[in-house]
Amino acid sequence: MKSRSLMFSLLILSMAATLPAMDKLESLKTRRQKLMPQLASGPTIMVSGQSYLRNGDTAYPYRQNSNFLYLTGFSHSNAVCLLLPGNAAPFQMFVNPKNPQATIWVGEQPGLEGATDDCGADAAFPLSGLSRHLKKIIAEADTIYFSTGNDPISKRIQRLIDRAKKKRDLTILDPRPAIHALRLLKDDYEISLIQKAIDITCESQAEAMRMARPGMTENEIQAAIEYVYKKQGALAHGFPSIVGSGPNSTVLHYEDGTRTVEDGDLVLMDIGAEYEGYSADVTRTMPANGRFTDDQRAIYEIVLASADAAFDSVKPGVGLLDIHKTSAKVIAQGLKRMGLITDEAAAWQINIFMMYNSNHWLGLDVHDVGGRRNTQGEPMPLEPGMVFTVEPGIYVGKATLELARQRARRAGADVEAFIQVIEPAVKRYMNIGVRIEDDLLVTAEGYRNLSAAAPRTVAEVEAMMARSTKHVIVK
Ligand code: GLY
Ligand code: MN
Ligand code: MN
Repeated sequence: MKSRSLMFSLLILSMAATLPAMDKLESLKTRRQKLMPQLASGPTIMVSGQSYLRNGDTAYPYRQNSNFLYLTGFSHSNAVCLLLPGNAAPFQMFVNPKNPQATIWVGEQPGLEGATDDCGADAAFPLSGLSRHLKKIIAEADTIYFSTGNDPISKRIQRLIDRAKKKRDLTILDPRPAIHALRLLKDDYEISLIQKAIDITCESQAEAMRMARPGMTENEIQAAIEYVYKKQGALAHGFPSIVGSGPNSTVLHYEDGTRTVEDGDLVLMDIGAEYEGYSADVTRTMPANGRFTDDQRAIYEIVLASADAAFDSVKPGVGLLDIHKTSAKVIAQGLKRMGLITDEAAAWQINIFMMYNSNHWLGLDVHDVGGRRNTQGEPMPLEPGMVFTVEPGIYVGKATLELARQRARRAGADVEAFIQVIEPAVKRYMNIGVRIEDDLLVTAEGYRNLSAAAPRTVAEVEAMMARSTKHVIVK
């Protein structure tokens, strides 16, 4: 009997371990259910992102508006979502019905069936009936949640609202703050998509380490990275890939990719696949020839220690801004040791080499919504389910001395005395740009590093680079 109950317990345990995570429809429904009580004074009208023509009948790559995607899961343009608290059909969608023309030119569209079956809409209507439907809804409302836009559908809705406002009192409120606050906390389904985007990105980092070598252009490395994205099912990137070698490793948002990588360069890769709308954001820095020089390693170890110190400080209740302070302190100590600054307590000096806040939220947008301070103006305290990046860095580049002069002048310091002290170190470490960026999920106990799979320490990066792969390079 005892062993049977043990077996039964094991069966239950193994079932629990394999229970599927929350599914898409359930996750979407829960989001709307959480939002609606906060926007209970009237209907909420949300408009999809617009598709923009580049020329003729060629459009720019389309990406759904993140708030619209969050509430509907609908990834196409020309759609409107209505949230009607208390209505028998509280989630309604207006979309273009399927039609043979669209099917022939761009492939079958989701149509009304897509809105109900794939997004969970309680009712779906043709977009052509929107104005008639909205007139009635607006006429019965005292308050409407709507944030207008420059697209034709938003303008049409705004005209209906303006007309109604001329006749009577009608309050228009912005629904976005409530949506953004919800987006800050990710559920299990969202976390599984973020993890997938990150896994693909980590595999791309490893592949770049295996294939890169001096003589390739930065764009060849980028192509290998994005090949892995496509191969693994990520259809897009969350932001344009940054692959910068040598001097370009010190350019924070370098996107050109045309330089040929040289022996002795560092190559900084700040990349993020997008999976089902969710973005990764992972940076690794590697030596082009597979071995860090002593000077490169010295800077790398400071950045790594800064990131590790930040990791150690992560737990619920800690403010996101405090995590940055922890990172910056370690960077400052390292910069002082290397002779790059004279006073590790002077923020203006640290800012010459790490000129940004080293954390941001991550989710449907790479710099996700939510803000670094709460509504009381306090540093936003971490809660389980939040996902954010830790991305300290040190950059010694062409503009560093000039920037140092500018910062010293603004701080009222003795400019030439400061420059004289730091100049030898700036020259020594010139063209070294190191950023190490990971994506952390806040848990009840502390955190989980979602991007731990990408080689990170000096030894891990060098070991991955030693597993060199051959690639066919088109001459
Ligand atoms: N990839 C942009 C950033 O790291 O914030
Ligand atoms: Mn980032
Ligand atoms: Mn990044």
